[in-house]
Amino acid sequence: MTLQELSTQAAREFERAFARPPRWIVAAPGRVNVIGEHIDYNDGFVLPMAIEHYAVMAADRPAGGGSVLRIHSTAETEPALIDTAAPLKPGPPKWSNYPRGVAAGFMARGLNPGGLDVWLRSSVPYGSGLSSSASLEVCTATLIEAVTGAKIDPVEKALLCQKAEHEFAGVPCGIMDQFISVMGRENHLLLLDCRSRQTELVPMRDPSVELLIANTNVKHELGSGQYARRRAQCEAAARILGLPSLRDASAAGLERAQARMDSEVFRRARHVIGEIERTVQAAGAIRASNWEEAGRLMYASHRSLRDDYEVSCAELDALVEIAQSIGLSGGVFGCRMTGGGFGGCAVALVKSQAVAAITKKMAADYKTRTGLAATIFCSRPAAGATVIKA
Ligand code: GLA
Repeated sequence: MTLQELSTQAAREFERAFARPPRWIVAAPGRVNVIGEHIDYNDGFVLPMAIEHYAVMAADRPAGGGSVLRIHSTAETEPALIDTAAPLKPGPPKWSNYPRGVAAGFMARGLNPGGLDVWLRSSVPYGSGLSSSASLEVCTATLIEAVTGAKIDPVEKALLCQKAEHEFAGVPCGIMDQFISVMGRENHLLLLDCRSRQTELVPMRDPSVELLIANTNVKHELGSGQYARRRAQCEAAARILGLPSLRDASAAGLERAQARMDSEVFRRARHVIGEIERTVQAAGAIRASNWEEAGRLMYASHRSLRDDYEVSCAELDALVEIAQSIGLSGGVFGCRMTGGGFGGCAVALVKSQAVAAITKKMAADYKTRTGLAATIFCSRPAAGATVIKA
């Protein structure tokens, strides 16, 4: 569904629920990370792109006035009720904590959205490693900007959304997802230096290649605690190396310190050091339209995430192995897991003309190997958050 169709649908649903057309419509995209996984909280480089899947909010002031920000979601039975007249704290339902945390961030800056009726419709698959939560946060922030007339700096906006996730959803995420949802640009990947927070747009407009996203449609519970654990292990490795973060580490320095580290911490750090290098190289390869090299780096990233960082799973490995079996002759340059891991999606760099055949083969082989149905789609790099109606 295009953004236009999605927003028309959200407007129609708003009108059905509230008996008047919405005054504001805003959208924020999900993302796929092309390379640079588990790197943002290590101050390194990441290379995500926004995808053509969005959270859309249609809104108006409540007919009866009041201070409650009321969000109905197509995907949820319980609405989010956020009373902007009182200090905000996390509370039920669980999903409401993303918009609640964002509203709290604006209120802390003296920007109170006041009461609103909101209809939310999202085409970002939930819990699939495509940043449905960041898109919801950034969508809320974009709505509050539109409603209050305040425009905050994009970096501040992304950080405000990250803080919402830390403090209201309890997830110690890095900055990648919120940054790309705010700053995505059509036909570009975003090379983000997570230390300086400087960004560089990397053009990706060659119509002969596509990024194909394959959703395993599994989410392993074990993933939740493992994210914080990986973060802690990276911090431990940096501490042993006497460095502020693994961004400052080198492969040689890590080798020298190996005896002073437990083997798991060593392997986590080896992933991070290698992945930062691969990400910078991949940005160069993509700039030069060297798709084979970019694909090779994606496969290497997957191996490192599987063996050293241990955040893959059988279903993700199956997708990558299937991609590899299709190979260059079948139109696949490279493939890797994307996002936090333990389920969710794989991303492949493929030849456009082979998309249909690759999709068919991947779906069939994945079904044979796992008994599960994968969801497979392509996306061009999309634009970041936008105001559709104001
Ligand atoms: C999740 C987090 C991001 C990032 C990725 C892994 O998506 O929200 O900050 O750490 O995992 O690359």
